[in-house]
Amino acid sequence: DGTPLSDLVRVPTREVQMRALSDPEIYQLEMDRVFGKTWLLLGHESEVPNSGDFVVRDMGSDSVIVARAKDGNIHVSLNVCPHRGMRISTVDAGNTQIHKCIYHGWAFKPSGEFIGAPVEKECMHGKMMPKEDLGLPQARVTLYGGIIFATWDLEGPSFEEFLGDAKWYFDTLFERSDKGLEVLGPPQRFIVRANWKAAGEQSAADGYHTLTLHRWLGEVGNYSKSGEGGSADLSPEMYGVEVSSPHGHALRCIDLGRKIRKLTGLDPSELTVDQKLEALPPPGMTHEMLPQLRKRLSEEQLEVMVSMPPQVGGIFPNVLFAFVYIPQADGSVLGLTLLHAYVPKGPDQLEFVNWVLAEKDAPQELKDRMLMQSIQLFGTSGMVEQDDSDTWPHMTLAAKGARGRRSTLKYQAVYETGAPAGWPGPGIVNEGFTKDDTQWHWWLYWNELMNAKA
Ligand code: FES
Repeated sequence: DGTPLSDLVRVPTREVQMRALSDPEIYQLEMDRVFGKTWLLLGHESEVPNSGDFVVRDMGSDSVIVARAKDGNIHVSLNVCPHRGMRISTVDAGNTQIHKCIYHGWAFKPSGEFIGAPVEKECMHGKMMPKEDLGLPQARVTLYGGIIFATWDLEGPSFEEFLGDAKWYFDTLFERSDKGLEVLGPPQRFIVRANWKAAGEQSAADGYHTLTLHRWLGEVGNYSKSGEGGSADLSPEMYGVEVSSPHGHALRCIDLGRKIRKLTGLDPSELTVDQKLEALPPPGMTHEMLPQLRKRLSEEQLEVMVSMPPQVGGIFPNVLFAFVYIPQADGSVLGLTLLHAYVPKGPDQLEFVNWVLAEKDAPQELKDRMLMQSIQLFGTSGMVEQDDSDTWPHMTLAAKGARGRRSTLKYQAVYETGAPAGWPGPGIVNEGFTKDDTQWHWWLYWNELMNAKA
């Protein structure tokens, strides 16, 4: 509508033009400038444990085949046949050493290399391009705690550079155990009629909405029974430390001592570091696994783990992770580990993909309970994320209105309060009540990418 791209995010007043949530031209640019430039979550290596195993996923608007090749490496290939553009794999997952296009039969290895075409001699008369030029385009792949990330930006920053300071915190979640994580079952997926950014910016550690949108958490079920009078006021939960990143990543760290008091009745001031970990082990970890933390994490990281451990956060542009404690009816506490991707499916549609993770070392009985509870709370027919997926379509629709699209989103709760005294971790750290800082940094990086010179 004539507004320059550079004016979509108004830095001095901390506003974002609403049309960013609906405009098809902006969406098309994002596919190149955001999803073509950043590292994207595609799954976990435990989904493709054997040679030939594959899953089909999306990198922005492109379908890709994520496959384990004979050499054991995971390859991410564009799921487009170089002959006439047919989608090569038309299923969600499987196992094969030959990905054969159903149109004319060109065939490819799990590594994306071209194998051959039917009746090649008769058809091509020896005039075919060299086989090396007929393979499927390859994305750059990395594994982090077994989680598969890939990017089309072959010469861009490494994954470590992309994470920057946030890696110090993310390692306490994804790299803290010897055997690492695995996924429990296939991911749950559902379509939400909303722009991906409505979910994406919330994934940047938005705690504020919990007070209102998820208020029921304090009113019903085991949360309401777990101490502090069963108050529906969740605001005491909203004090903590938030970590922002110049690359849009975010973390919300919560007061573990408060959680220990609330969920176990113990007095945290009387507990040592080890006793705190014993009282409330990190989600998904058993008591037997706790020594692994000491082995793998630095003293400073451990200090954060027993004082203000990360609970919810996001990896730019479209990933949310949560390591949460769920009180159980029998008085015990169950930790859950979740990973969401909000995959864009057009300017007003996203696919919500939810992986349930567990430590590989955890006993099967614990994994079963984690999976069941995750499905009940966060799955396709779950109780928590459905609150959120009620709001995102309304925001997207509002951003299409003739007047609404000219309105602005106002990120006013940006205080930059600074880190608590003695905070050992790096990054842009702010303590206090949850606020807009992390989401605002998310938008600043989106703005930087969208306005970057090609
Ligand atoms: Fe795939 Fe022709 S389009 S073989």
